[in-house]
Amino acid sequence: MAAPHWTLLLTVCVASFFTAHANKNAPVGQFFVYELQKEVHQADFNPVSKIYGQVPDDPIVFKCNKQFSPDLPAWIRYTQRHPHDNGFLYGTPMEEDRGKNIIEITVINRRTYETFQETVIINVVPRAKLMPFQVEFFIPRRDIEKVLPPTVQYDILQDVQKMWGADDLEFVNITSALDRGGRVPLPIAGYFEGVYVKLGSERYFSKCLQEVLTPLHARACEAARQSGRPYVKVTTDCSGGCLVPSNCVEWCRTSLLDLSKPEPPPPVPTMGSGILETGGEFDPPESLPPRDFFPDYVATVIFPFVLALILFLLLAYVMCCRREGLEKRDAMTPELQLHHHHTIIGNADELRGMAGTREGVPPPLSTLPMFNRRTGEHPPPLQRAYQPDSIPLIMAQQ
Ligand SMILES: *[C@@H]1O[C@H](CO)[C@@H](O)[C@H](O)[C@H]1NC(C)=O
Repeated sequence: MAAPHWTLLLTVCVASFFTAHANKNAPVGQFFVYELQKEVHQADFNPVSKIYGQVPDDPIVFKCNKQFSPDLPAWIRYTQRHPHDNGFLYGTPMEEDRGKNIIEITVINRRTYETFQETVIINVVPRAKLMPFQVEFFIPRRDIEKVLPPTVQYDILQDVQKMWGADDLEFVNITSALDRGGRVPLPIAGYFEGVYVKLGSERYFSKCLQEVLTPLHARACEAARQSGRPYVKVTTDCSGGCLVPSNCVEWCRTSLLDLSKPEPPPPVPTMGSGILETGGEFDPPESLPPRDFFPDYVATVIFPFVLALILFLLLAYVMCCRREGLEKRDAMTPELQLHHHHTIIGNADELRGMAGTREGVPPPLSTLPMFNRRTGEHPPPLQRAYQPDSIPLIMAQQ
């Protein structure tokens, strides 16, 4: 009986032995990504096969949360497309997110249902550099998981570097179009969610990028949108373009952000009436003007009362004074009662007379006493002379 317990204990020991800790720095305002390597965790589940280099391909999922809380910090997002793919923790910390984030990652093997826990410490450190000039590109032919691996990020960076002519580019944000109101694509090859990629630099936008701000560009985009044809870039200041076709950007959804100028302060709210002067004291009015409650009293008390009274009187009149049936019976005089009596007697006599005229015709068999319904046989006329109630019981049974 103790065997399962020992196995469990051993598993726990092994699991805790392999529990890893990672410590990462995330500068404020820069894109941060931590890849949860499926292959590495796979091997952790199979410490023996790791030695022999034979690791089964188990589906593995990750559950991530901040230590002592049910969810991740607001700036960190988590994604994993499929249990056979790597998972990603990513996001852009802001000034208010400064500090240490201890992220607990529960690794679940979907085949054996073994789990173990890993901890990642993400330190949000001060801003490394100011990136006053930022450009957001839309990459239509990508899903977020395909852009997060460092190699793909590097390819995109290379493309943008050529267009921008700056070598200090940094990623500021990478967002799935689904997080920005995009539609879930059809599950068919060739349909993608689309990804927004934001990069920043200290260098002002190149000629190629500035083109996005021109009215010519806006008109070309409008024309392309209306005709449904793909947008053709107006001038060709952008040398290179995209090396990998799926990294090509959609120019009409490119936007430039210039954060170098200080933001204008928000307009001062206009004071409405009813706001006290600062320092003043509330002075309640001495006496309120008298209010006339009489119309309310009439509407809520007098009127329903009068209505109820009228209805009561009407009902009383109908019930007491207009009961016609009762009135008639009470009014039946003795003469009338006598008349009724005579009528009844007369009717009875008439009926007897009608019965007398039937004498010649034999009465229906069913009316005769002792009639046998099955054989149709009836007793001899002698017996018929007897009154049925005077026939002795024995004779009646013959
Ligand atoms: C990054 O993108 C996400 C999703 O659109 C947004 O919530 C977040 O504020 C962005 N962060 C920065 C620094 O732009």
